Amino acid sequence: MKILVTGGLGFIGSHTVVELQNQGFEVVIVDDLSNTSLSVLEGIKNITGKIPVFEKLDLREKNSVQDFFKRNQDIAGVIHFAASKAVGESVENPLLYYENNINALVYLLQELQKKEAANFIFSSSCTVYGQAEKMPITENAPIQTAMSPYGNTKQIGEEIITDTAKVTNINAILLRYFNPIGSHPSAEIGELPLGVPQNLVPFITQTGMGLRKELSVYGDDYPTADGTAVRDYIHVVDLAKAHVIALKRLLDKKNLEKVETFNLGTGTGSSVLEVIQAFEKVSGKKLPYKIVGRREGDITEAYANTDKANTVLGWKAQSTLEEAMASAWKWEQKVRS
Ligand code: WQD
Repeated sequence: MKILVTGGLGFIGSHTVVELQNQGFEVVIVDDLSNTSLSVLEGIKNITGKIPVFEKLDLREKNSVQDFFKRNQDIAGVIHFAASKAVGESVENPLLYYENNINALVYLLQELQKKEAANFIFSSSCTVYGQAEKMPITENAPIQTAMSPYGNTKQIGEEIITDTAKVTNINAILLRYFNPIGSHPSAEIGELPLGVPQNLVPFITQTGMGLRKELSVYGDDYPTADGTAVRDYIHVVDLAKAHVIALKRLLDKKNLEKVETFNLGTGTGSSVLEVIQAFEKVSGKKLPYKIVGRREGDITEAYANTDKANTVLGWKAQSTLEEAMASAWKWEQKVRS
């Protein structure tokens, strides 16, 4: 069974490729290498012993996408990770985000609608909820006006898929990730942010390695237990496993609606200070940090109600925050060794 993984050399994509191969799927990766490197292929092979087929492809080029599908008629399912994902960058350069995250999606779906049956998994984000009223957040929490062009591309992407699935042979599952962190326990693959990390955990591990002077904690005046913002940090391997389960659900065609949506988190919220404490515990290091002002666009709190994923997918996150932090730290040390 051949599965196309777009953005399959990226952070979540590469971990999902490993889990797909572990389950016996044949994987084809397309990636434009704009935010990753070919060395990730080596990491995947070192874990599973199998090198996935890889093709460099820019999904913004409609002809290239058409040509790829002409040459790959036997794709049973698509897991679509390829997208730009830096919130701040999306504010400065919205058209880059609308072109890369929307045009590419449209070209992919235009190819899939030609097939007898098509199975499509979309990498979405809890960012579509904005600051939800009620915690934990369920899948039917209202979709609020996006706080960034990045978040807007996820909302628009979900709408495009929903409208298209209604009138084509495409069945889709939208996976709304909370905050993916950590790395494969082998430390063969992990998060490789290029430049200064925007996200909390890679910034912490780089600070732990002395690559960054100190962490800036963006605000301790939030209405939370310790004043710092709360998120739902989910181990990337748990997240990857959910994709394989979702794919099998599509392939088995079990009592499916045309489009199903699942929140993927641990169901537990952790504050920035709690993440720092978890790092200090697993690394045995004191993390230098300072409290600064809030970051523009940040929300106070977000953590998932995972009942639907637990009952319908039969999936539940297994790793604790500390286990995830330990894997992130192990990866950082290996990558810098
Ligand atoms: C987490 C918390 C920050 C950095 C975003 C996207 C989401 C997904 C994950 C792509 C916040 C605080 C952070 C730092 C800090 N992106 N922080 N100092 O913003 O919750 O989610 O990234 O898939 O869609 O919205 O993640 O890791 O940037 O921040 O204090 O140097 O850590 O304020 O409270 P975020 P994050």
